[in-house]
Amino acid sequence: MSKKRIFFTGGTGKAGKHVISYLIEQGHSVMNVDLTPLNHPGVDNLIADITDSGQMFNAMSSYAGLAELESGNGVPKFDAVVHFAAVPRILIKPDNETFRINTIGTYNVIEAAVKLGIKKIIIASSETTYGICFSDGKTNPKSLPLEEDYDVDPMDSYGLSKVVNEKTARSFQRRSGFDIYALRIGNVIEPHEYAELFPHYFNYPELRRRNAFCYIDARDLGQIVDLCLKKDGLEYQIFNAGNDHNGAVIPSKELAAKFFPNVPITRELGEHEALFSNRKIREVLEFVEQHNWQKYVKID
Ligand SMILES: NC(=O)c1ccc[n+]([C@@H]2O[C@H](COP(=O)([O-])OP(=O)(O)OC[C@H]3O[C@@H](n4cnc5c(N)ncnc54)[C@H](O)[C@@H]3O)[C@@H](O)[C@H]2O)c1
Repeated sequence: MSKKRIFFTGGTGKAGKHVISYLIEQGHSVMNVDLTPLNHPGVDNLIADITDSGQMFNAMSSYAGLAELESGNGVPKFDAVVHFAAVPRILIKPDNETFRINTIGTYNVIEAAVKLGIKKIIIASSETTYGICFSDGKTNPKSLPLEEDYDVDPMDSYGLSKVVNEKTARSFQRRSGFDIYALRIGNVIEPHEYAELFPHYFNYPELRRRNAFCYIDARDLGQIVDLCLKKDGLEYQIFNAGNDHNGAVIPSKELAAKFFPNVPITRELGEHEALFSNRKIREVLEFVEQHNWQKYVKID
């Protein structure tokens, strides 16, 4: 079935609102489950807390909106769960709260989905699992480019929560046989942010070292989620969700040599190929980026 009824957590946030907009454009129906509603035409909202298991089971077996009462056939089943709700970095809440909300919340969402028989689950993991972003001091990756088989080793509570969530996803996948895909999302860029941020980043590339110079356009992230919804049978998967090129003007080899000296480069890199590799989504999901930064930022 190509048009799906989707249970989407955290859709009111920075990334989620663009992803939901993309999914609605593709003809899916979306119920946004968040602590605050999203004002978007065609989106049903339910206020619910992912850290409360009962609320997740209840919400996932509910009508999405009043219109669904009309058929008289009872509550329809969700086809897929997309789980984005989280504390999205360290230093918003105390570390233990970040860890608790992200790990318990993800456990609750995946458990409810699996036990209710929802066979496609996509969760938001993060580039921070690679352990550079929120590390104490300037640390190097073990190798470049960053690919999905890397031995992830973050030293912060947020990155750790995402590693735990990937393990939770894997465990439930093994038990159920359903498809559960974790997206290691790069630094999300909204359309208005190119003009605001990128010229500054280009003047001070050091600012992007902690992100390994990655970015994902929020609309391209929508495409990636949609491709995951369409691609069945991959069981448990991790995908880096990033754009094709670095968010930098310096070519990749030079960028690596300058900012990550002595870090082994494990394969030939394209001239501007992202150090946070998106090769897997291009090859497996047939992702074709629509919004590279070159479209929106002019270099003098
Ligand atoms: N923004 C990025 O650059 C980035 C990068 C990598 C990964 N991610 C991940 O992508 C996802 C979305 O990130 P974002 O930037 O949109 O974050 P955001 O903070 O803008 O949105 C998160 C949403 O989750 C909701 N939420 C938080 N706690 C909740 C709870 N207990 N119950 C229900 N809803 C709750 C919030 O109300 C918010 O609307 C997160 O999982 C984040 O960790 C984001």
